[in-house]
Amino acid sequence: MEKSKKMQISVIGSGYVGLVAATCLAELGHHVMCVDVDSAKIDALNAGETLIHEDCLQELLSRHRGIRLFFSTSIQAAARQSQVIFIAVGTPSAEDGSVNLSFVEAVARELAQSIDGYKVIVEKSTVPVYTSEWIQSTMTPKGRKQVEFDVVSNPEFLREGTAVTDFLYPDRIVVGVSTPRAAGMMREVYSSLIDGSYAQQASAVPKPERARMQPMYIETSPRSAELIKHSSNAFLALKISFINAVANFCEAVGADITEVSKGIGSDSRIGPEFFRAGIGYGGSCFPKDVAAFRAVTREFGFEFPLLDEIKRINEEQRARFIRKVSSALRTLKNKRLGVLGLAFKDGTDDVRESPAIKIIEQLLEEKCQIVAFDPVAMERARQILGNKITYAPDAYAAAEGADALLILTEWKEFTHLDLGHIKCLLRYPIVLDGRNIFSQAEMAQAGLTYHSIGRPSHEASHNLLKKGHIAR
Ligand code: NAD
Ligand code: UGA
Repeated sequence: MEKSKKMQISVIGSGYVGLVAATCLAELGHHVMCVDVDSAKIDALNAGETLIHEDCLQELLSRHRGIRLFFSTSIQAAARQSQVIFIAVGTPSAEDGSVNLSFVEAVARELAQSIDGYKVIVEKSTVPVYTSEWIQSTMTPKGRKQVEFDVVSNPEFLREGTAVTDFLYPDRIVVGVSTPRAAGMMREVYSSLIDGSYAQQASAVPKPERARMQPMYIETSPRSAELIKHSSNAFLALKISFINAVANFCEAVGADITEVSKGIGSDSRIGPEFFRAGIGYGGSCFPKDVAAFRAVTREFGFEFPLLDEIKRINEEQRARFIRKVSSALRTLKNKRLGVLGLAFKDGTDDVRESPAIKIIEQLLEEKCQIVAFDPVAMERARQILGNKITYAPDAYAAAEGADALLILTEWKEFTHLDLGHIKCLLRYPIVLDGRNIFSQAEMAQAGLTYHSIGRPSHEASHNLLKKGHIAR
């Protein structure tokens, strides 16, 4: 096996993607400088903190920090010593749903002034089609001496919660590139993943069972790579909205979404992933990227109303859940509700666009009192909700004295709760599960009245029969 070349790399941005990418690139053997404008973050990283909750991250940071992974606030110093520079800053939504590229622009301008030799500038942030050309022109204003560089689009597909293993064992690596020189350097960056040699190292982070030993390495034009990223996120969001719409119809006809999604997803052309019905998708990416994709299609005069429908179904899903809580309790005003889960999904402390937070905010408007627990996201939730809710030390304390218990994040550890104990603690034995983490049988056995998504209770099926909807 050819020994892979170790490279000098910078990663600009030390958030969920930048920090994971920088750490994993160091794990692949490269010498990495991770840069952020936020000096408090850089100080904390230099002091040994991990900053985000992500499986395996702490271990890899302690393995490489100060050896081949360094943190700095200076783009200039980092850029000058690097062959490849990844841009991994935020690309938030503007008011109209389009992407606010101001952070990418600030980095591009600073890079233009900093680089002193050939560099490969890599878009890692999620950006709309044509951004690589725009970075190219932003970095070469008229009349200025041009230093040679190439802009490459290398979108990131990691999920929070499994970010490290997603980065090290990806399904595919997409590289949108227009020159052979940059293409060659990108292959060197990922060589130990492409040939599978990383996975064979004794110290390698273990490969998740279902991950590929070697990813597909897909070279495209930069525009195609940019479009692959937006389309992938839109398609995953579409799958979730589709299954949520089917779940709602299941409730109307007395079918069970768990059975239905298993039946649909076992067709290999469709696949079982992203078919869990619930309170809709959240997070810093799907809502933003579906809106951004819609905005860029409009900008080019292309109508894509399916993207609006994905979003509409997603928002309706939260409203339906609140109606469900209201109907289970007859009225919401002054009800004390225990809430399990604040993060936008399990495995992360990220609460950006969390459906749990949005539902809590709505319930607070309805004058409910909320006592919430999340295994890792309480501090970040506190930054948004402040003292408008009570933070419980554990799940049982959240349930104690509550008129109902709401499950809003799919944390696996909630499935191990002692349901008998929960029943004793609750004022009324009502559980509303927005993530379908329990079976109806175990809830019934514990004596809890259980409402979930797309799985109508026996009582509801009975009512349908009585109304004559399920006659023959
Ligand atoms: P984040 O907000 O967690 O981190 C962005 C970081 O960039 C912050 O630490 C910020 O201080 C820093 N920054 C901003 N301007 C800077 C500048 N001029 N110089 C240096 N640093 C600067 O964002 P994130 O979640 O890591 O996402 C980054 C990008 O990756 C986004 O485009 C996002 O859509 C994309 N993405 C995110 C995920 C995910 O799971 N979070 C997955 C794939 C792709
Ligand atoms: C998502 C994509 O999965 C990544 O491939 C992508 O890189 C990333 O966005 C990004 O571009 O930022 P992430 O947002 O971290 O990753 O998490 P997901 O696992 O995709 O979950 C997103 C939301 O959908 C969560 O709120 C989750 O609870 C919800 N979800 C997911 C469902 O409601 N049902 C499902 O079946 C799956």
